Amino acid sequence: MRLTVHALAQRYRRGEPLTMVTAYDYTSARIIEGTDIPLILVGDSLGMVMQGLDSTLPVTLEDITYHCRAVVRGASTALVVADLPFLTYSTPDEALRNSGHLMAQGGCGSVKLEGGAAFAPTVERIVRAGIPVMGHLGFTPQSVHQIGMRVQGKSVAAGVELVRDAQALEAAGAWAVVLELVPAPLAELVTERIGIPTIGIGAGAGCDGQVQVWHDVLGLFDDFVPRHTQRYARLGEVAREALISYDADVRNRAFPTAANSSTVDDATIDQIVE
Ligand code: KIV
Ligand code: NA
Repeated sequence: MRLTVHALAQRYRRGEPLTMVTAYDYTSARIIEGTDIPLILVGDSLGMVMQGLDSTLPVTLEDITYHCRAVVRGASTALVVADLPFLTYSTPDEALRNSGHLMAQGGCGSVKLEGGAAFAPTVERIVRAGIPVMGHLGFTPQSVHQIGMRVQGKSVAAGVELVRDAQALEAAGAWAVVLELVPAPLAELVTERIGIPTIGIGAGAGCDGQVQVWHDVLGLFDDFVPRHTQRYARLGEVAREALISYDADVRNRAFPTAANSSTVDDATIDQIVE
């Protein structure tokens, strides 16, 4: 049975930390299915890690829908949350139509959008239609050109605004909110002030849950390791070593072996030769 936002709200009320990780394909989702991780995010970070882009801005609704479908097929327990891409939720109507698409065509159980109080009417509209919404505050990558790539909420005014934004999202019916690159004490304050789970990334240990990007947490990417990440494996290195061995075996004619091959009797071959 797939987890619902209600089941996750119960865990939150019991004080159970919520773990979330991104995934973009069937095989990764199958791996997550073998864990107790309750939340998968089909994030627009796929622009970087799947498509090699340098921001999330060019990611389309169809990109998210495509990856979401694959993830949903691979994971039957976790709640799958799909990101609404850049400029797919500029008005409440557009947001509702595109959220409906992600849910009906992508199969997600919740959508996520970036923005605070200004998006309260949008969140309300989507939630009223029966689609759970997760908010996203702090560093919001779709606004990188406006806010820069840095920790948010360092000033009093910005901190006050962050608390208000989180409260506005809760009042609008969001069931959870991601806090990205927020000073730990501020994230803790937001967590105290709202009655829905805060899911942190670069926001300290005081949040109700944590989210990490698949490639970061598994060490698939070594060009850049964000400070907020802990690598629990070095799968990139493991994969490279394996491919070096494969290549060496092909070059040395050590692969494939008889065990990897099939055969047919000599008489048949003789007849083919004739
Ligand atoms: O797209 C993404 O992966 C995200 C998380 C980093 C929260 O939005
Ligand atoms: Na995202």
